[in-house]
Amino acid sequence: MSGAPTTPSTAAGVDVFDLGDEHEQVVFCNDRSTGLKAIIAIHSTALGPGLGGTRFYPYPSTDAAVTDVLALSRGMSYKNALAGLDLGGGKAVIIGDPAVIKTEALLRAYGRFVQSLNGRYFTACDVGTFSEDMDHVARECDFVTGRTVAHGGAGDSSVLTAYGTFQGMRAAAEQVWGEATLAGRTVGVAGVGKVGRHLVTHLLEDGATVVVTDVHQPAVDRIRDEHPEVRVVESTDALVASELDVYAPCALGGALSDEVVETLSASIVCGAANNQLAHPGIEKRLEERGVLYAPDYCVNSGGVIQVADELEGFSFDRAHKRATAIFDTTRRVFELAKSDAVPPAVAADRMAERRMREVGRLRGIHLR
Ligand SMILES: NC(=O)c1ccc[n+]([C@@H]2O[C@H](COP(=O)([O-])OP(=O)(O)OC[C@H]3O[C@@H](n4cnc5c(N)ncnc54)[C@H](O)[C@@H]3O)[C@@H](O)[C@H]2O)c1
Repeated sequence: MSGAPTTPSTAAGVDVFDLGDEHEQVVFCNDRSTGLKAIIAIHSTALGPGLGGTRFYPYPSTDAAVTDVLALSRGMSYKNALAGLDLGGGKAVIIGDPAVIKTEALLRAYGRFVQSLNGRYFTACDVGTFSEDMDHVARECDFVTGRTVAHGGAGDSSVLTAYGTFQGMRAAAEQVWGEATLAGRTVGVAGVGKVGRHLVTHLLEDGATVVVTDVHQPAVDRIRDEHPEVRVVESTDALVASELDVYAPCALGGALSDEVVETLSASIVCGAANNQLAHPGIEKRLEERGVLYAPDYCVNSGGVIQVADELEGFSFDRAHKRATAIFDTTRRVFELAKSDAVPPAVAADRMAERRMREVGRLRGIHLR
């Protein structure tokens, strides 16, 4: 960032207003003594305050952080809209290695910046932040969710993320095989961390055969201990190349690259990972290859449904019921894809955009 009072630009000289052309607001937060460098991006408040987690990550540059927060906050607008929440899209990043710079003071300084937005943005956990961190943020700020159960929070959001992903997968199974079950199918889960692990349990309970992979040996060991019947393969490449009915990316973004799509034998892709499509156009190639793709932000919205519920005073039963509706939402996405003759990823975007437009415009009806 240049210190000059001109248009803010990223390190590569890209104009932030061009990059964030659709965004309402981007806030740069700096606190020298704690080392806090954060960026909060609000993409849209058409449906309500922006809600999205705080990613704490050692970005190589401010440029990379800006690019990420803009994309992530936009993604939250679509996810929250499709999930039927009265929430817009926002996201924040804290730049730095959480293992090195995360302190109570830094988190509380961050909380004061979130508070300064006066409820236009609600924060929660994301990569590098945990419910305990949100408890610290909440000491300075009223607009926090995803807190610990001890503080009245919803706790670990991976529980309903996995459950919702499973519901989306059932809807995809119904679409492809006529029955909303994974019984007798082989499902490959790439990444058995917080979400993948719970997903494996749902799949086994439903009667599926499960194959997993993970780069982190303790995650593999834990799944082997919990479910000795699960088969483990050495890499994601090996998983993708094996005979699968369903491929469930549950690790990082960009899982659906050109190579993966050409190799895949699965009839369905449905997983919890965010931003699975490596580049625009991949969704068309999946369709051409006869692979049904259940859009990531549609099926993985159980987590945001869980933390959004906390804003009303958390009820697990209510949140669980709402996450069950991911089955119906995914089914509607497939129906629209068929009737509009577009890939499901495009249909999901259209549904989200329609809700932002139609429900968002109601605010134009003035109320005292
Ligand atoms: N936790 C949630 O509530 C939630 C909600 C929505 C979306 N997601 C998305 O779901 C995905 C998983 O989230 P999580 O909370 O389980 O994270 P996590 O960090 O607990 O688990 C991810 C797992 O993937 C493994 N992994 C990383 N790179 C890999 C690779 N190349 N091959 C195989 N395994 C690899 C990691 O070792 C880890 O065990 C992420 O993309 C996340 O953004 C999570």
